[in-house]
Amino acid sequence: MRVGIVGVSGYTGLELVKLIANHPVFELTYLAASSGDTTIEDLHQSLKDVICMDVEKASVEDVKANCDLVVLALPHKTAMSFAKHLWDSDIKVVDLSADYRLELETYEKHYCEHEDRENAHNGVYGLIEYYKEAIKKAKLVASPGCYPTATLLGILPFIPYINTDMPLIVDAKSGVSGAGKGCSETTHFVTINDNIFAYNPLKHRHAPEIAEKIDDIYGKKMNVHFVPHLVPMTRGELVSIYATLKDDIDPFEVLKEHYKNDEFVRIREKTADTKSVSGTHFCDIFAAKENNMLFVSSAIDNLLRGASSQSLAAANLMCGLDESLGLPKIAYVP
Ligand SMILES: NC(=O)c1ccc[n+]([C@@H]2O[C@H](COP(=O)([O-])OP(=O)(O)OC[C@H]3O[C@@H](n4cnc5c(N)ncnc54)[C@H](OP(=O)(O)O)[C@@H]3O)[C@@H](O)[C@H]2O)c1
Repeated sequence: MRVGIVGVSGYTGLELVKLIANHPVFELTYLAASSGDTTIEDLHQSLKDVICMDVEKASVEDVKANCDLVVLALPHKTAMSFAKHLWDSDIKVVDLSADYRLELETYEKHYCEHEDRENAHNGVYGLIEYYKEAIKKAKLVASPGCYPTATLLGILPFIPYINTDMPLIVDAKSGVSGAGKGCSETTHFVTINDNIFAYNPLKHRHAPEIAEKIDDIYGKKMNVHFVPHLVPMTRGELVSIYATLKDDIDPFEVLKEHYKNDEFVRIREKTADTKSVSGTHFCDIFAAKENNMLFVSSAIDNLLRGASSQSLAAANLMCGLDESLGLPKIAYVP
């Protein structure tokens, strides 16, 4: 399988290069960014003398000539400007952006006008544990957002047992790499060092994504109140979820049973933490209750389970391979 990555100068693009370079079946045949005429070693000094490949200026024609599958590690809007030209080809596409994740109306309300309206619905949502069969047949997989990945994996097992008329409160923390490589005042070292703060409280674009997928999977429309925080770490995401139980359940047993066949979801007996999943495809989940209050804690590596390794798992399934091929399991600990 010839695999291309568009957006290799970015953070998720770099993670993809590392994962696919070690993959037993996929072969990297095309690397691109917004300008070419360079090499992957020049873009990422960490790859010096390890992976040597040219990086081209991204072009749809080159994708068509060089790839059986392409991963778009691009900002939203730019991703669909590529993907819209690939629907009539045999090339499989995994898109890391939000462009094909949402209902058209939700997308246009929270992002921008859609450039590929007729196909906006044709992507399959790439949350592996819930959309596996559809992913296997997909032409384009829309890889979930990092916060929705951690939140949905944490709360979905409990939807049958909670009062879905009550609000779902999601308090999330992310390392700075979640914002991509571009520097802004918020992500500047001086702002984030020794500091922690909420951003876009109750207005973040990932809230409608979470609500839409709960509705899609369980047919329940929930009010999702989502507050993300930026923390002074490079990678890692920890999500704390609060919901109101309607049934008397043992949260640990519910999780254990729900994910008994899912190798990459680990149910923790102690609270989840970001370091234990850093560098891996695992999502670690812990849950507890007090009276009818349910607390769920879910940890992922935003760049891997929240982005690049999740898109690789989808690519494996799309190509008829074992889902787990090339997915990292050993965390960057200590
Ligand atoms: N970071 C995360 O934790 C995370 C998690 C889940 C999903 N995502 C999504 O994944 C996507 C990539 O995120 P990221 O964090 O890797 O972003 P990033 O670090 O900002 O990288 C973006 C990449 O897109 C390239 N690019 C931009 N415009 C382009 C164009 N017109 N043609 C070709 N390449 C272009 C950039 O290339 P140049 O440098 O050459 O301009 C760069 O390689 C985004 O949609 C993001 O929302 C990210």
